Amino acid sequence: MQGLHMVGVRHAYGRTQVLNDISLTVPAGELVCLLGPSGCGKTTLLRIAAGMERLQGGSVTIDEQVVAAPNVQVPPEERQIGFMFQDYALFPHLSVFDNVAFGLFRLDQGAARTRAMEVLEQVGMTHHADKHPHLLSGGQQQRVALARALAPKPRLVLLDEPFAGLDTNMRARVRQQTLSVLKQTNVATLMVTHDPREAMFMADRIKVMGENGQILQSGRPEDIYYNPVEEYVARLFGPMNMIKGTVRNGALETSFGVLSVNGQDDGAAVRLLIRPEGINLSSNGDQPGDTPVEVISAHLLGDSSIVRIRIRDGINSGAEFQARIPGAFDLMGGGRTWARVDPAHVFPYPQEQ
Ligand SMILES: Nc1ncnc2c1ncn2[C@@H]1O[C@H](COP(=O)(O)OP(=O)(O)OP(=O)(O)O)[C@@H](O)[C@H]1O
Ligand SMILES: [Mg+2]
Repeated sequence: MQGLHMVGVRHAYGRTQVLNDISLTVPAGELVCLLGPSGCGKTTLLRIAAGMERLQGGSVTIDEQVVAAPNVQVPPEERQIGFMFQDYALFPHLSVFDNVAFGLFRLDQGAARTRAMEVLEQVGMTHHADKHPHLLSGGQQQRVALARALAPKPRLVLLDEPFAGLDTNMRARVRQQTLSVLKQTNVATLMVTHDPREAMFMADRIKVMGENGQILQSGRPEDIYYNPVEEYVARLFGPMNMIKGTVRNGALETSFGVLSVNGQDDGAAVRLLIRPEGINLSSNGDQPGDTPVEVISAHLLGDSSIVRIRIRDGINSGAEFQARIPGAFDLMGGGRTWARVDPAHVFPYPQEQ
């Protein structure tokens, strides 16, 4: 198979085990995101793939060539990998053009020039070719670093937090451009981030890593968001509402009516997590499952609002929840408000003993 294949990779720094039996595949043309908290070993895994860290256990294969295994250690410069670091690591004393041409020493001068200009064109930076990096904005430097990584036509691209230094607007734009350049190139890309929304946007598949250097879940972005296999994964996307209870007939009786809890045994103590965007508000209360609530506060964030609500009566009356609704919250003339839960945003997990 073309692309990257890591099997059973383990790594320790001294006595501290950082990576435990990590296996992953990045087919050519796909972008896989490693999503995990600070210190879980993401950079270490990229460094092992690149050959900058010596393999301690497992194997690494790129385009069917074993580049690291117990008795194999192909040096980084022979792995045909494009690497982009968080700080871009451009050479300050070289022009944009020379930065990009730097890795093209195998080509003759004419061919190197053509190729460097071709990738600069791809990232929209030809008119800055003669400038030095310090004259460029963060977003422009990022594009040069991407061009430099892609210039030698690598078999694999490794991106370590490639947008971390950019402000929100620039980040969104550069992300989109980077993604389209990578997709045109049809290269295998392994990208590291600790921003779940960035992973959702960029990835064909996401690998969620936990604090102990293990992969907790792998899947398409929609699997990670709609079918999080454990509470940690569900909570990646922000604060959650929680209801505790005991399962009866495959369901839990809650302030929002009877919610089914697939996969949990009767009598089991469960925690039901509900995403704020899974609580819908309305002013007429005419749908099944509508529950009368009192609005405590509403804060407009821009494209959405966070609305705190309190259950008026029935089960758990007085309990408070957080809803996230599109746009501004309109009190609709001070009228009453009802809340309804969308089952697609409800996740039951066993209560820890
Ligand atoms: N050269 C090293 N020697 C000893 N310990 C190290 C070394 N490099 C990293 N570590 C430790 O290994 C663990 C994993 O580090 P790594 O840089 O891979 O994490 P990360 O997931 O990339 O974190 P971040 O999101 O903060 O970049 C951390 O606890 C770190 O302190
Ligand atoms: Mg890191």
